[in-house]
Amino acid sequence: MRVPIIAGNWKMFKDETEAFELATEIRKRLKDVSSKRIVLCPPFTSIPSVKKAIQGSSIYLGAQNMHWEEEGAYTGEISAKMLLGSGCSFVILGHSERRAHFGETDQVINKKIKKAIEEGLTPIVCVGEILEERESGKTESVVEEQIRGAFEGINKKEIEKLVIAYEPVWAIGTGKTATPKQANEVHRFIREKISLLFNQEIAQKVCILYGGSVKPENSKDLLAEPDIDGALVGGASLRADSFDQIVRSD
Ligand code: 13P
Repeated sequence: MRVPIIAGNWKMFKDETEAFELATEIRKRLKDVSSKRIVLCPPFTSIPSVKKAIQGSSIYLGAQNMHWEEEGAYTGEISAKMLLGSGCSFVILGHSERRAHFGETDQVINKKIKKAIEEGLTPIVCVGEILEERESGKTESVVEEQIRGAFEGINKKEIEKLVIAYEPVWAIGTGKTATPKQANEVHRFIREKISLLFNQEIAQKVCILYGGSVKPENSKDLLAEPDIDGALVGGASLRADSFDQIVRSD
């Protein structure tokens, strides 16, 4: 019932030429895959070349951030409309790297989510705890606070239009992955919260992706968990072979 999503977050990697080559190779390798939604999220400047490479395929294009205003004097920012006009249908919001290095708060993320949905983009909203919080038993309270903050004032119709990514910060780029059981526990917890905040039907519909050192060696077990509906892949999405293997890991 929930169509799995495998999204590649290319972060600040791949210039125009490299992005075109990678997206072309991914397209070639994944042309027979129809059971999953594939999303590529290159840096802003590489969006046009990835668009060209995947045109006419079933691969979706996504961005890694956006501003919540329509337009204005916001040097260095990009609007939802601009992303749509460039061919994006997804946008990653609230990634832990944006929270940690650029001071994004749940309130800012909330404004971005609302704007993205209003314009017709599908937000991939990231939540997750840092190591210290996990070790002190605060994972659930941290994730709950992020969920409540990010989804403040969002209605039932809107919530159905977004995707959530659970990315434990201690597992990002570290090679340490949450075990499938650890990850699924948090996914189940998130689904329960969505059920309480909205309703059971919506909670069953919403896609919850796992992110944090997802690789071909661990993706099969992670994706086999009942509440894990796909993956948000960083490092391993920068090579066509490993991304291909993750997509095909079940
Ligand atoms: P890695 O897969 O490199 O750990 O990155 C995960 C991530 O941050 C995806 O958004």
